[in-house]
Amino acid sequence: MVNRYYFEGLLNEKRAEAEGLFSVTLRFKDRKVVRGARPGRFVMAWLPGVDELPLSPSGYDYECLALRLTFKVRGEGTRALASLSPGDRVFIRGPYGKGFTIPQADSVRGALVVGGGVGIAPLLPLIEALASSSLRPYVVCGFRSASEALFVNELSKLVGDDLVIATDDGSLGLKGTAVDATRKLLEHKTFSYAFACGPEEMLYALHKMFLSKGIRHQMLLERYVKCAIGVCGSCIIDGLRLCKEGPVFDDVTLSRLKEFGRLRRSPSGAREPVT
Ligand SMILES: Cc1cc2nc3c(=O)[nH]c(=O)nc-3n(C[C@H](O)[C@H](O)[C@H](O)COP(=O)(O)OP(=O)(O)OC[C@H]3O[C@@H](n4cnc5c(N)ncnc54)[C@H](O)[C@@H]3O)c2cc1C
Ligand code: FES
Repeated sequence: MVNRYYFEGLLNEKRAEAEGLFSVTLRFKDRKVVRGARPGRFVMAWLPGVDELPLSPSGYDYECLALRLTFKVRGEGTRALASLSPGDRVFIRGPYGKGFTIPQADSVRGALVVGGGVGIAPLLPLIEALASSSLRPYVVCGFRSASEALFVNELSKLVGDDLVIATDDGSLGLKGTAVDATRKLLEHKTFSYAFACGPEEMLYALHKMFLSKGIRHQMLLERYVKCAIGVCGSCIIDGLRLCKEGPVFDDVTLSRLKEFGRLRRSPSGAREPVT
């Protein structure tokens, strides 16, 4: 531990997963940061002198005290994280927030997981947990193209043929979005519970589709996170703090959020449209 808040992670492995997408595995001496990891919770990864980023781990190993972070390179922070080498240090605080809640198996008649782009990364530990329970899920993933497809081998190992891949340009799997592929799947398969993570337009379209079919669901949303401890208000969505009450919200809460699918706050706090 570096101080009360930060845990020192040593970069053990870095992998280029797909175009512009990387994973880094960090190992810790302190067990607290790994012990608190659960599907859908997030950590703050601090690169001194650069930035601090919220990321939801795509894997964790409680025995080796390791966390894997999978991210898309978007700006300065993720570019700096992607340029690290084994042995470099990343300072982690957290994990924070409320992750996915796995419902009682006897209340579920078919579980579906839908990921869009890098949104499949935080869903991987959830899929592992569901696959090792009696709630083995069906998985739909959407990517822009085959070059951006993420964790396809891992997913097929976990769920076998119960996996649908869709790409916008048709270069892998079905041609179309994750929303198109889910709509098609629901024409001939029945699910009573779904989980999703990805671009907000995708989540909003799925939310409406799931509501119309009576499918209970939980979704991992993103807002601008600064403090991550519920104090600064930067991550507010309709009065709820994403870092405390989220980032995973259930269907009942999502239905009450007027800003879901419409508005987010910029780093300065100004409301801007979700694009
Ligand atoms: C709870 C949560 C979990 C996340 N998990 C992942 C993940 O597993 N993998 C992944 O690739 N991305 C994840 N993100 C998004 C990730 O935090 C941003 O992509 C990252 O911070 C971009 O930083 P940057 O410096 O590279 O880009 P910048 O150029 O600084 O920003 C690019 C865009 O990234 C977003 N962003 C930047 N800083 C923040 C911030 N502090 N909080 C929220 N969004 C921000 C904004 O939309 C911004 O327009 C998550 C976000 C949240 C809120
Ligand atoms: S990020 Fe500060 S309240 Fe959520």
